[in-house]
Amino acid sequence: MSETTLVLIKPGGVDRNLIGEITRRIEARNLKVVGLKLFRAPRETVETHYEEHRGKGFFEPVVAYLTSGPVVAMAVRGTNAVRAVRTMMGATNPVDANPGTIRGDFALTIDDNLTHSSADPEAAERELALWFSEGLPF
Ligand code: CDP
Ligand code: MG
Repeated sequence: MSETTLVLIKPGGVDRNLIGEITRRIEARNLKVVGLKLFRAPRETVETHYEEHRGKGFFEPVVAYLTSGPVVAMAVRGTNAVRAVRTMMGATNPVDANPGTIRGDFALTIDDNLTHSSADPEAAERELALWFSEGLPF
């Protein structure tokens, strides 16, 4: 079933010049980029995005990380896109991420794990509405 998911390239990924590499992998998988922007995310957007983690020890650090520089927000569409992209990212903690995944190939620490992707279709719908409140071009 065709799904649309949200991918974020976090400031660490932008700083490491990995926009092209990450986007290349997504497109090579036959997933379509249907929304794309590079900008500095407002703190409010990031806090809403990570609302489920509010109160946890890493909440403030991860919000600080996501607002520390520009991010790429991408809407990605294709068959089983949510799970497919999630698998491509690898485990949240890069030391547990398999080689061949983005985190497994390019990241070492959980506080700088380079990417976000929606965990399930419900999260994808909520996150796309948050990051692309203006709607998608197609
Ligand atoms: O991003 P993902 O859905 O894989 O993981 P999460 O458990 O929803 O955590 C959200 C983000 O918070 C992670 O991607 C990390 O950037 C950050 N985090 C962290 O810095 N330290 C932790 N112990 C857990 C999460
Ligand atoms: Mg998550």
